[in-house]
Amino acid sequence: MERRRKADRRSGKDRRDEAAWVPVSLDGPSSTEGALIDAARRARQHARADYSRFEVGAALELVDGSIVTGCNVENASYGLTICAERVALVKALSDGQTTFTRIAVVANTQTPTPPCGACRQLLWEYCGDIEVILANLQGPTARHRLSALLPLPFDNRLLK
Ligand code: THU
Repeated sequence: MERRRKADRRSGKDRRDEAAWVPVSLDGPSSTEGALIDAARRARQHARADYSRFEVGAALELVDGSIVTGCNVENASYGLTICAERVALVKALSDGQTTFTRIAVVANTQTPTPPCGACRQLLWEYCGDIEVILANLQGPTARHRLSALLPLPFDNRLLK
């Protein structure tokens, strides 16, 4: 059962269809979680966070196991700031990637730093119900399914 759930999570099905999904058990790190967190930690080193000094890195895992990273990019106008998660997502989308499994987000905080509302909405649109791993410089601090972070989402099913 556990094997089937893991396979399903990576199968590229539309993970927004809750009825078709047994909730993933976020029951501990997989063997590759450390590498995903490390990639986010390295990406964080490129953060352009001159205004907030709050540096964030993100690493998005593709269905084939490869990783696309992002860091936050701020601007003097403040409002044009782009979060690390969205940078990773648009990099992957613009490379033609379509199927995602997990995202790791790293910040130097004791309390986990979860994706902001805008990032949750965009991740939901393009990634479905992925696993969201939150970490700091010491290691993972929390794991969630995106559906738990974005209950009652607005998405294209409502446009039909
Ligand atoms: N930020 C991210 O990049 N990701 C998050 O999950 C939370 C916030 C960035 C945006 C801004 O550059 C800085 O952190 C402070 O909000």
